[in-house]
Amino acid sequence: MAYDVTQLRALIQRLRSPLRLAVIHGGDKTQPGAVIYPTHNPRSTKTYHTVAKDIAEALREVGFEQVSLLADDMTLPQTLKQQGIHLAWLNTGGVQGYDPVCHTPAMLEMLGVPYLGHNPLNSSILDNKHAFKRELQALGIATAPFMVAHPFQGPFNPQTHPQFQRLFGDYRGAFVVKPVSGRASVNVFVVDEVEGLGEAVANVHRLTANTALIETYLPGREFCISVSGPILHREGVFENHGTPFAFSAIERVLEPQERIFTSMDAKGMSQERMRLLSGEEAAEGRLRSQLEAIGQEIYQAFNLTSLVRIDLRQDEAGQLYVLEANPKPDLKRPTAHSTSLVAQGLEQHQMSYHDLILSLLGDRLHQLLSHQPHLIPHIQALIRS
Ligand SMILES: Nc1ncnc2c1ncn2[C@@H]1O[C@H](COP(=O)(O)OP(=O)(O)O)[C@@H](O)[C@H]1O
Ligand SMILES: [Mg+2]
Repeated sequence: MAYDVTQLRALIQRLRSPLRLAVIHGGDKTQPGAVIYPTHNPRSTKTYHTVAKDIAEALREVGFEQVSLLADDMTLPQTLKQQGIHLAWLNTGGVQGYDPVCHTPAMLEMLGVPYLGHNPLNSSILDNKHAFKRELQALGIATAPFMVAHPFQGPFNPQTHPQFQRLFGDYRGAFVVKPVSGRASVNVFVVDEVEGLGEAVANVHRLTANTALIETYLPGREFCISVSGPILHREGVFENHGTPFAFSAIERVLEPQERIFTSMDAKGMSQERMRLLSGEEAAEGRLRSQLEAIGQEIYQAFNLTSLVRIDLRQDEAGQLYVLEANPKPDLKRPTAHSTSLVAQGLEQHQMSYHDLILSLLGDRLHQLLSHQPHLIPHIQALIRS
């Protein structure tokens, strides 16, 4: 029988009891049996275990009876097989090694286990700021001028670097030097003078053993916008929004002397630091629409299949530039005292955290049922039984 979105609620209802779900967080390479040889992680390590637990709990609360929480280490394929997992939810940045964000989706592709999350290529593009920015440039989406310095190519000397001279020859402002694969402002440096670039690049190389990104410093206001697929759950029903759903347009409020947003590792996200754009006032409404349009354009241009949070900053004239897109934005469940950049704006759309979780799951099932039914014969068998 042909599938259409009006059936989604009933299909999910049927799957609540038999569907075996696994929420997957990053493994810990120091645990015995997690990896063969513990190596280096060029990306600042974090397992995202607590948030994976929040997601798993929410899935149980909305009615799924079989939800496991698993680490994405070497034991994962065997555990997925033993537990007969039908569908995985990726909440991981990987364990170790280069391009760690794509390791788990790549493994699941190989195993034939369907998942919620970005495919391996998009995971890597989104988590490598230079690769993402090159595509943005090709698409004509504004991003700060930049270049990269690779660690194997020796010390970086801007004065003798032809590409640097071509790109930044006349530029007299400040720069940002940061890891191409990073998170939460870790190892991001502002460099005021060209003379300081060599040292900042060497620092990033030493700290990450990976490529450093050099770009112009944008001194303006900072924003982010979350974007997910078109299927939404709210007020008890699934609906097709038609276009990607851009929400939680937020200004990250910087303190007067704060040139880059302080790492969330050092200073937790508080309500005062994230101001939801209401859209009630005309200028703010325009800004919010601009952010939403950029978010939707990126979602479509990269053919994304799962949630991203896009970080942006303005120059002194107020023009918006995309800094990066986060492939695995924080999905922490909001509490009375804390919230997340993604969840903060849900109320504006009459949605709860449960609605967000159901929307993300419903959107993925909708894609699979409409466009990739060949990937889920085992789930279709559950629906038919
Ligand atoms: N070109 C830039 N101009 C101004 N600030 C920047 C620039 N690049 C990064 N930042 C600051 O550093 C923070 C972290 O950078 P970002 O590119 O979002 O990487 P990540 O969040 O992965 O560490 C941003 O939130 C912003 O405050
Ligand atoms: Mg960021």
